[in-house]
Amino acid sequence: MAKKLYIRSFGCQMNDYDSEKMADVLHAAYGTEATDSPDDADIILFNTCSVRENAQERVFHHLGRLRQLKEGRPDLVIGVGGCVASQEGETIVRRAPYVDVVFGPQTLHRLPQLIEDRRSSGLPQIDISFPSIEKFDHLPHARVEGGAAFVSIMEGCSKFCSFCIVPYTRGEEVSRPIEDVLTEVAGLAAQGVKEVTLLGQNVNAYRGRLADAEVDLAFLIETLAEMPGILRIRFTTSHPREMTARLIEVYGRVPKLVSHLHLPVQSGSDRVLAAMKRGYTVLEYKSIVRRLRAVRPGLSLSSDFIVGFPGESDADFEATLELVDELGFSDSYSFVYSPRPGTPAAALADDTSREVKEERLARLQQKIEAQDLAARKRMAGGVERVLVEGPARKNPTDLAGRTACNRVVNFAGPARLIGGYAEVEITAAMAHTLRGEWLEAREDA
Ligand code: SAM
Ligand code: SF4
Ligand code: F3S
Repeated sequence: MAKKLYIRSFGCQMNDYDSEKMADVLHAAYGTEATDSPDDADIILFNTCSVRENAQERVFHHLGRLRQLKEGRPDLVIGVGGCVASQEGETIVRRAPYVDVVFGPQTLHRLPQLIEDRRSSGLPQIDISFPSIEKFDHLPHARVEGGAAFVSIMEGCSKFCSFCIVPYTRGEEVSRPIEDVLTEVAGLAAQGVKEVTLLGQNVNAYRGRLADAEVDLAFLIETLAEMPGILRIRFTTSHPREMTARLIEVYGRVPKLVSHLHLPVQSGSDRVLAAMKRGYTVLEYKSIVRRLRAVRPGLSLSSDFIVGFPGESDADFEATLELVDELGFSDSYSFVYSPRPGTPAAALADDTSREVKEERLARLQQKIEAQDLAARKRMAGGVERVLVEGPARKNPTDLAGRTACNRVVNFAGPARLIGGYAEVEITAAMAHTLRGEWLEAREDA
């Protein structure tokens, strides 16, 4: 009987992507199949995140609950991967001795070997090294479901923003060879994938080599747009410092590049941006958005914000709200600053109370939600081409699709539309989604 695997992801899109790769690696090695229940699983993996304290502590809380399971079933394999694993290494086994394997984001392809070594030695195995890009050479071909797929094109981060743990957990920026990326996307297209999302911690820092020349994300996008079968291209997450003139121009030239960009700004105050070591000013950020919208009117923008960074004054925070008013964001990931041990900002004096920070966060989130709702209401009456992802979440007799600007539309339609494009008229804006009416399926558009 095939073994059952339970994986839980605690982190970002890269973390989700890595979880899929873990499933692929174990499927290739043991024929494991996924289960939604830890009680049924032969292997349980936690793919952890350490970007904020909460995320980190949740892992230990959930691990604690596995102890009993392991006592009843000593053959159960428990693994901890991801960014907490990378940072804590052996500490995890000390805090939770029933953990069998600890591995980092760059060593997940070694999982089968680590599990074998655990069995033969009887000792927990820990490998949190950074063997560069080796991982990609050892991953089996992805199992594709549906019309959209993620493709990791670079790993790590070399920016060292003063608040952030990621450069320490994921290592420095390394790009995959462009030939490998092109081969992977061609393979996906041959399996029916129409939409690719290029992934990387700072995906627009991508630097590949072709013959003797350096090639960038702009080149990669233009090349992928020529590939038969690929109809939509997305990328995430991008860094404002890497938003080059060449990349901005691509928005004017390549209609297959979607009209949505996630471009984290973090704050609307130059003082705070400097203390964060972000490497751009508010004016520079605004100039990027202005130039993008000049070549791509209607581009929808989403962002990340940190509220309550040490020393953030009321005036600094008001500047963030002003920026939001001025640019208009469709969505955001916004959180109260969480000090991460070992990062420079953790040593900064911070005299803003938790209450004030929470209140700032609520104001920011309300503003962005109101902007998003207004933007979605403006879409009513229009027709959108959506990639149909599957049954709708709340009402599974409906279908859910995603617009080019990354909004979810629920509508009634036949299941055969799943995995293809459909033309949908937007009829209403709901709290977080859109309601639509199916006009016609254009699977081969
Ligand atoms: N590389 C991307 C960038 O710079 O735009 C962001 C990747 S990071 C994993 C995702 C987000 O987590 C950041 O944009 C930031 O808003 C948030 N984040 C990182 N460190 C944080 C901290 N110490 N406290 C709160 N939020 C944090
Ligand atoms: Fe963290 Fe900054 Fe790197 Fe983004 S660019 S992952 S926020 S260090
Ligand atoms: Fe978390 Fe690591 Fe992603 S810290 S946000 S899982 S890069």
